[in-house]
Amino acid sequence: MTETQKTAKLSLNGQDYELPIFSPTAGPDVLDIRKLYAQAGVFTYDPGFTSTASCDSTITYIDGNEGVLLHRGYPIDQLASKSHYLEVSYLLLYGELPTATQLEDFEARVTRHTMVHEQMHNFFRGFRRDAHPMATMVGVVGAMSAFYHDSTDIADPWQREVASIRLIAKLPTIAAMAYKYSIGQPFVYPRNDLDYAANFLHMCFSVPAEDYNVNPILSRAMDRIFTLHADHEQNASTSTVRLASSSGANPFACIAAGIACLWGPAHGGANQACLEMLKEIGTVDRIPEFIARAKDKDDPFRLMGFGHRVYKNTDPRATVLKQSADEVLELLGVEDNPLLQVAKELEQTALNDPYFKEKKLFPNVDFYSGIILEAMGFPTSMFTPIFALSRTVGWISQWKEMIADPQNKIGRPRQLYLGQTTRDYVDIENR
Ligand code: CMC
Repeated sequence: MTETQKTAKLSLNGQDYELPIFSPTAGPDVLDIRKLYAQAGVFTYDPGFTSTASCDSTITYIDGNEGVLLHRGYPIDQLASKSHYLEVSYLLLYGELPTATQLEDFEARVTRHTMVHEQMHNFFRGFRRDAHPMATMVGVVGAMSAFYHDSTDIADPWQREVASIRLIAKLPTIAAMAYKYSIGQPFVYPRNDLDYAANFLHMCFSVPAEDYNVNPILSRAMDRIFTLHADHEQNASTSTVRLASSSGANPFACIAAGIACLWGPAHGGANQACLEMLKEIGTVDRIPEFIARAKDKDDPFRLMGFGHRVYKNTDPRATVLKQSADEVLELLGVEDNPLLQVAKELEQTALNDPYFKEKKLFPNVDFYSGIILEAMGFPTSMFTPIFALSRTVGWISQWKEMIADPQNKIGRPRQLYLGQTTRDYVDIENR
C-alpha cells in the first residue's frame, strides 16, 4: 500500500478537508478517512461495509467484475488444477509456494497434530445426540482454548504458529467427530499414512467393523473442495475473526467466532440451503415457479447459491465446481442425478432471466458444492462444517497477518444514533 500524491477534498460546513488516497497493487484506490472524525467531527455511514476497506492485506485479491480470485497472486483455477490443499495452505500462511522440503516439513507438522486431546471426547458427549454438527463445532473449537493452554499467548510468535498448525490439523478431526456423534457411530482416529483429504473421508466414512478404502478420485475431489474454500478476502466470517481477535482474544475463541458467523444461510450455510432448495424444487418443470418467487419482492425466498457481494460476473470457484460435479457424478455412475439436472436447468433459466441479468446474479461457490458432497455420501448438515474446516486456514492466515501488523488496534465502529435523546426517569407508578 502506497500513499499517492492524490488526495480527495471534502467540503463540509464551509471548510475543506484533504483526505489521502492509497493505491493498492490491484483494485480501486482507497480513501483514508482515519483522521476524519478528529479533524471534521463527522463519521462515515456504511452498514454492510459495501464501500469500506477494514484493513490492508497481502493474502487474497478478488476482482468481482472480471471474476478473478488470486491467492498471493496465483489464480484459483491454476491452484485448483495444479496444486492441492496443504500446498495452498502453506501459500496462504507464509506468502510463497513451498519448496519440496518446506512442503514435506509442513505436511509432517500438520499430520502430527491431527489427534485431539482424549478428554475432548467427553466434551463431545455432552451435546444432544441430534445436535447440528456446526453447533458442536462452534462449542468444541471454542473449548480448544481449555485444552491447549500452551498456544494461547498471541504475543508469542511460536505459540501463534503452534495454534495455527493445531487448528488446521484438528478441524477435520473435529468435523468428522461431530458427524460421527450425530449419527451414533464411534469416533474414528486420524491416520497419518493418508493425505489430508483422504484422512477426512476415512474419519467420516469408515467404521471399526470393516475396512474402508478411500477412492483416490473422491479424495482428489474432496481436496479440490477444500482448496476452493480456503480463503476469500474480508468476507463476513473472516471479518468476524479479525474483529474478535482485535481485542486480543485467543486464536481458538476467534476461530470459533468465525465458525458461528459462517453458519448463516447468507454465508457458508448457503450450501446446505441450496441443496435443500434443489430438493424442494425436485423436477425441472417446477423451476419457473421458484424463479418467480425469487423475483417477487413480497416473498422472502431467494435463489440459494446465487448472487455475491463482490462477484458481479462469475464466481471462478463455481466454474471449477461445476466441472468437478460432472466428473464426480460420472465416476459414481450417477451422472443422471436429478438434482444435477435441476441445478443445470435452474442455472440456465436464471442466467437468461432479465431480473438476474440486471442484478448481476450468478451461481456462487455454494451452488454446485452440495451436489458433489451429497454424491460423496455427506448429509446436508455436513456441508457447512466442510466449508468451515476448509476456511480455517484462511481465517488463520488473516489472523496472523493482523496480529503481526503494528497498526493493529481494537475494531470499534461508530453508529448513526436515531434513538431518544436525554429524558428523565419516570417512577413506575407514574408510567
Ligand atoms: N435471489 C434473488 N434475488 C437476489 C438474490 C438471490 N439469491 N441475491 C440478491 N438478490 C437481489 C436482492 O433482492 C437485491 O434486489 P433489490 O436491489 O431489488 O433490493 C439485489 O439482488 C442485491 O442483493 P443484496 O442482498 O443487496 O446483495 P448483497 O451483496 O447484500 O448480498 C448475498 C449478497 C450473497 C448475501 C445475496 O446474493 C444472497 O442472499 N444470496 C443467496 C445466499 C447465498 O447463496 N449465499 C452464498 C454466498 S457465496 C459463499 C459465502 O459467502 O459463504
